[in-house]
Amino acid sequence: MATLAASLPDFVTKDSSLGLIKWPLLALSGLGLISVASGIRRAYNYLRVKDSGLDAYAALNTSPEPFYLKELFDETLKKTSTPMMITGVVEGRFLEFLVFWGKPKKILEIGCFTGYSSLWMAEQLPEDGKIITLDLDPKVSAIAKEHFLKSPHGSKIEHRLGDARQAITSLNEKFDLIFIDADKGGYIHYYQTIMSRGLLAEGGMIVVDNTFFMGGAANPILNHIGPFRDINEFNKVVRSDDRVVSVQLSIRDGVTLIRHAKNVQQPEVNEKPFELL
Ligand SMILES: C[S@@+](CC[C@H](N)C(=O)[O-])C[C@H]1O[C@@H](n2cnc3c(N)ncnc32)[C@H](O)[C@@H]1O
Repeated sequence: MATLAASLPDFVTKDSSLGLIKWPLLALSGLGLISVASGIRRAYNYLRVKDSGLDAYAALNTSPEPFYLKELFDETLKKTSTPMMITGVVEGRFLEFLVFWGKPKKILEIGCFTGYSSLWMAEQLPEDGKIITLDLDPKVSAIAKEHFLKSPHGSKIEHRLGDARQAITSLNEKFDLIFIDADKGGYIHYYQTIMSRGLLAEGGMIVVDNTFFMGGAANPILNHIGPFRDINEFNKVVRSDDRVVSVQLSIRDGVTLIRHAKNVQQPEVNEKPFELL
């Protein structure tokens, strides 16, 4: 209140004849501040990165990563400028589950970063299995390669340095599992190239990370801008493609699973904007 009083014009605080309106004015200013703060909070909530605390709860209820992955996670936090790009324990464990259950032999990863998700997938890959992982950043790739050498499963991983947008156009083998986790503006290109070049094996699965893109892909204001738009456009492409069946899971930042459709009748695409709660 002392600060509020100080912010009132001098004639209000000094002129005793205005003493009677001083306190109502103070109250009004207080209410004004509260409503500005609540407006900012509401705007923030509307546009914000969703954080309900459930991610931390999911991590608590997920079996922890092996020590060498924890080491890599910690090193990524310390040594990279964008550590938030790492998938983290819940999604890492989820990828490991997919490999455990689906028993893929050949995996393509687009967007290796420091190798955390590659190593999670390699955990369950048989000795004769192979992961090709692509990344264009030499700095994070050096960390990845160092950890592949240290890991008991690193020998299953082949790292290719370079632009995945180009690299993918020259691949001519089939993969049982393809994990897309690179530049969001490239997602449609990666997906269309996989589909048109037949890179996904029969019975295989594409796993796509960040398909909520911090909730912005579903936000009718944000999803006309930059990566929010890129991801929203990608989601539209997938859901209107009757060659595939897909499911979007609310794991971390949104994970979409896609497989070939087998005589599956796709429902009508609903283009109505998503309604925020
Ligand atoms: C979100 S990170 C990948 C995270 C990783 N899958 C993990 O779980 O730790 C995205 C990575 O994609 C890489 N990237 C971005 N654009 C690329 C491109 N055109 N070609 C290859 N890699 C690219 C970035 O260098 C970055 O390392």
